[in-house]
Amino acid sequence: MQYEVVLPAAGSGKRMGAGQNKLFLNLLEKPILVHTLEVFEQDSQCTGIWLAVKPEERVFIQDMLERYGITKVKGLPDGGAERQHSVHSCMKEMKQVDIVLVHDAARPFITHDIIANLVRSAHDFGAAIAGVRAKDTMKKVRDGVIEETIDRESLWMIQTPQAFQFDLIVEAEDVAEKVGFLGTDEAMLVERLGHEVHIVESSYENVKMTTQEDLVFGEAILRKRAL
Ligand code: CTP
Ligand code: MG
Repeated sequence: MQYEVVLPAAGSGKRMGAGQNKLFLNLLEKPILVHTLEVFEQDSQCTGIWLAVKPEERVFIQDMLERYGITKVKGLPDGGAERQHSVHSCMKEMKQVDIVLVHDAARPFITHDIIANLVRSAHDFGAAIAGVRAKDTMKKVRDGVIEETIDRESLWMIQTPQAFQFDLIVEAEDVAEKVGFLGTDEAMLVERLGHEVHIVESSYENVKMTTQEDLVFGEAILRKRAL
């Protein structure tokens, strides 16, 4: 089953505090962005990659694609002020495909197995997202005081990729744009349409490189995988 993937890569990486787009930082001598791109470059089901980029970083990223032999990129449109705008800017250029994946460029450890499960689930049900079960006890806090202990059985921590049938994500984005709704992920836009979104159990290794300590986890994962 074929799909195209949208990789929003136009963030600033403020929480990483590296003074540059965190995606250009190296994990064991290769930029985070390249690690992520290589997963999709090597995935036989992936027929195209769309990268949302900052205009001033486009040439640098194009050079990177050439240097690392990334051939599946079909477009590098301008990103927007928010992640959702960056994703939308890719979707506007994309032609009809069966399945669209949206994946944070900052999650380099996604595996082919999880991608395949997501694509299958989106094909069968319309929308599917990767997530892992919450490990810690979760409590709702107000003004520094516990209000409620939430039943952990029902709690999942949501990641990307998020996978959708093309027409569904296009409709969800159109509606969100019309009413000016900003979600934290694309699944929220689909949920708002009243459409079911299925969970695909993912891996705790699929971490997003967000703060400095994530780089330490990230390099440890790469070392373990190289054994
Ligand atoms: N992203 C994007 N356009 C934006 C904001 C984010 O394309 N306007 C991308 C980032 O490049 C990243 C992904 O969305 O690959 C997930 O976002 P996040 O982890 O929040 O990255 P940043 O926004 O760069 O980091 P921060 O929030 O710490 O500034
Ligand atoms: Mg951000």
